[in-house]
Amino acid sequence: MKTSFVIHGLTALVRFFFSASLIFLVATSASNAAPAGVGQMFRLDGGDTTYIFGVNERGELQALYWGGKLAPGDKFPEAHSLPEIASFDPPSTTTPQEYAAWGSALYTEPALKITFADGNRDLVLHYVSSKSTGSSYEVLMKDISREIYVTLRYAMDTESGILARSAVIENREKDAVVVEQAAAAQWTLAPSRYTLSYLTGRWGAEWTLNQEPIQGGSRVIESRRGTTGHQANPWFAISRDDSQKSNGPLSAGEEHGEVWFGALAWSGSWRFTIEKTQLESVRVTGGFNPFDFGYKLKPGEKLETPIFYGGYSNHGLGGASRILHKFELQHILPQSPNPKPRPVIYNSWEATEFNVDVAGQEALAEKAASLGIDRFVMDDGWFGQRKDDRAGLGDWYVNKEKFPNGLKPLIEKVHSLKMDFGLWVEPEMINPDSDLYRKHPDWVLNFSGRPRTESRNQLVLNLARPDVRDYVLGFLNKLLTENDIAFLKWDYNRNWSEPGWDAVTADEQKKVYVEFIRNVYWVLAELRKKHPKIEIESCSGGGGRVDLGILRYTDEVWPSDNTDPFDRLSMQDGFTYAYTPQIMMAWVTASPHWLNGRNTTLAYRMLSSMQGSLGIGDNLNKWSAEDFANAKRLIAAYHEVQKTITQGDLYRLVSPRDDSEFSSTQTVSPDKSQSVVFAFTVATKQGRLFPLLQLQGLDPTAKYKLTAIEGKAIKGTPESASGDWWMHHGVNLDLKGDYQAAMFRLDREH
Ligand code: DGJ
Repeated sequence: MKTSFVIHGLTALVRFFFSASLIFLVATSASNAAPAGVGQMFRLDGGDTTYIFGVNERGELQALYWGGKLAPGDKFPEAHSLPEIASFDPPSTTTPQEYAAWGSALYTEPALKITFADGNRDLVLHYVSSKSTGSSYEVLMKDISREIYVTLRYAMDTESGILARSAVIENREKDAVVVEQAAAAQWTLAPSRYTLSYLTGRWGAEWTLNQEPIQGGSRVIESRRGTTGHQANPWFAISRDDSQKSNGPLSAGEEHGEVWFGALAWSGSWRFTIEKTQLESVRVTGGFNPFDFGYKLKPGEKLETPIFYGGYSNHGLGGASRILHKFELQHILPQSPNPKPRPVIYNSWEATEFNVDVAGQEALAEKAASLGIDRFVMDDGWFGQRKDDRAGLGDWYVNKEKFPNGLKPLIEKVHSLKMDFGLWVEPEMINPDSDLYRKHPDWVLNFSGRPRTESRNQLVLNLARPDVRDYVLGFLNKLLTENDIAFLKWDYNRNWSEPGWDAVTADEQKKVYVEFIRNVYWVLAELRKKHPKIEIESCSGGGGRVDLGILRYTDEVWPSDNTDPFDRLSMQDGFTYAYTPQIMMAWVTASPHWLNGRNTTLAYRMLSSMQGSLGIGDNLNKWSAEDFANAKRLIAAYHEVQKTITQGDLYRLVSPRDDSEFSSTQTVSPDKSQSVVFAFTVATKQGRLFPLLQLQGLDPTAKYKLTAIEGKAIKGTPESASGDWWMHHGVNLDLKGDYQAAMFRLDREH
């Protein structure tokens, strides 16, 4: 007989959450035979983090602990399901499962939802077996009666404590099934008060950091656009409130407090559901976006989800982002574990737009070389019948009117100026006014007989099709084989519409959401295999495709088409919560700025861009001799400290958010021998002085020499002092007025 233990009031339940003492509160017993693996525990340690889950008495895999590192000998209580709440919420809902399938009575967000051929939609996963290699687990689960198997993968990075989780769903039934929802992972945080941080935006305004209390119910952040999207980024951070109060405003500390964070490695439609359950715990479910999802699995077929990375820091959001930056550098980027600092580039887009030709590009290249630029990149306009954005995409042959002898003469010129050469491409797109479209109108995403919505006069090639995938790889390979090209700026200037795939049967069409992205990754991987020296930028009309999936194949990203140096301060601030400054390309462009007419000095523009990987995108034909001299000096200074800026530990000293008048960041090299500080004013009020900069992360006892690169510290600041002095006494900058900028470096003395 079914037994139940009803508790009136949630407080008691909350107290028992994650606790073995629940054993005496056994709620239900579904079958007589004991499920496999009951009592088994799985523990992963890495960095300052421990992660534990186990098999409960019902056979479910249950989340037990994610947080600060526990001592090796600490015994963790066995998993035990949570009791029902009255008659409305049975244990299948109250128990935090590691990967909850939609079945039984599950009312919280499921990780997995399947429809079987006979109409059954009930799926209940129980533990079967597991394999371990020490820092990783593969845990096999199976439905209680049907032949659906799910393998949960866990791999802990022992240095950073970042856990990589994903799932493989396998159909061993005799008939096909349709997977309607498949998360990569579900993360559980113990009951507490939390603040959620997440990034949103739009074209020209990406990387806004939002912070809000996590309250009852669900918060969804997602993309339904077939791509990562400008509107939200697949990253989250959750800070525990440490104010010791049970009410009042929440705080998310920059350098203190516990933070859990996660990032999904997927460049297609995605969804995170952040849910505060009735028991006050917080669950984050993330993976493929279930909207319009339906992945048919024939007997014997499998669906593998993307990887959802999760980590923990006890040093606030700053600590969390430093862990993530290092992890990206060491484990995600194509050149990991030791990516080279990015070459300083010149890009001609804002100077010439589509009007590229040999003479114009060569003139710009000469000027760029005189500044100490490492790489010259020719942007849009060099191919097909491309005069503007109305034609040419898809026709990847060199435009003979603009480049009568092909690209070689320009490339040779660029090489003779001691720079390498980069080129813009937009491989997944097609203009209806192109030879390719006239030949293959069926190659685009579309529903037969329905209108095809154009954006920027272009349609999306259906990369899920093997012939399209091969065409894209073919022309890119030819381009790189025939020309000495060091770098591709890979653009992607619209989102999907009418996402039909009419070459396959109706019940297979929705696979486009998965196969398209996999094929993009495949093309990128093949290209890198065939041309191991190639470097690639992920650009999507700015920051529309930045995620840990594309970053496995691309060396840098274009965060935004908005290059206004002031707007960039807060965008770069938001960006670095999730991504390392190494990949954050930042160009110096014209003043007044085309977007808002704002006037800024060259120094302000240079320093704003020097916070990331530097580029120059202005029309050099309009520069004065003084501009050239200033930029040359600053580029030389940047080259000297670039590795510290882009690969060091980042501290946000003064935030540009919330209408701040000031902003400042500091980076420290991993061996603490060097530090670089940037400071900016905005619209200062009432003559306020620049805030005291108490530096961070230095070696307290070592002596550091301060060198000003731009601007100055107030009179009386020592030239050299201990780390303790710079961190406790701090630096007062002599920085007054609107739109002023300063930069200095500290070098450890021997
Ligand atoms: C959008 C990119 O973000 C720009 O930098 C530029 O490459 C244009 N596309 C070219 O069409």
